[in-house]
Amino acid sequence: MLLEETERLNQIVTRFLEFTRDAGKQQDDEPRFCRVENVVNKIQQLFSHQLAQQNIELRCSFNDPEISVKIQESHLRQILMNLLLNSIEAIGKNGWLQIEAQEESDGIIKIIVSDSGYGIPPEIAGRVFDPFFTTKDTGAGLGLAIVERIIASHQGTIQLAEDPSTNARFEIRLPKADKILK
Ligand SMILES: Nc1ncnc2c1ncn2[C@@H]1O[C@H](COP(=O)(O)OP(=O)(O)OP(=O)(O)O)[C@@H](O)[C@H]1O
Ligand SMILES: [Mg+2]
Repeated sequence: MLLEETERLNQIVTRFLEFTRDAGKQQDDEPRFCRVENVVNKIQQLFSHQLAQQNIELRCSFNDPEISVKIQESHLRQILMNLLLNSIEAIGKNGWLQIEAQEESDGIIKIIVSDSGYGIPPEIAGRVFDPFFTTKDTGAGLGLAIVERIIASHQGTIQLAEDPSTNARFEIRLPKADKILK
């Protein structure tokens, strides 16, 4: 019963995403790859006012500033926006948010987003990617479900770090782009 319901909600989200993807198709001839640092810089600008207002320090760390991934920029932007929004909500005032990117192995780029917020208790860790799962009064519970779908559609993965520390820590793996983008 519960499984059926979850499956139904999954299908709703998948269809919604397919719809938005198709809607964007006509006018979008965006490259299928992007440089992680470029996207992070844009996100930083977008959130700069909110980060300053809530006194949140955004730390970025890239082993190689040219690290590029096989995903179009607007999709990576959407992924990072949803994660950052969650982090900002979890921190409230005063804290830090960190984005790291590194080549993990044979053509896999690992992007880690972590924060100093209230953290994710182990008892809900298995459900945070479920569509409509939320612990917030006004949450839709769609942010992470959308993130997971976008990443999966690019042959990537996202998981919560096993690390039982109190900080929320998301690990994304995406194929490395062959081209180096300036
Ligand atoms: N960085 C984080 N720190 C603590 N808890 C988090 C974090 N990210 C996600 N969560 C937990 O996972 C749940 C699901 O997140 P998700 O982004 O999918 O939905 P939401 O934020 O509740 O609503 P929406 O994104 O649709 O506005 C959240 O309600 C929260 O309990
Ligand atoms: Mg959210």
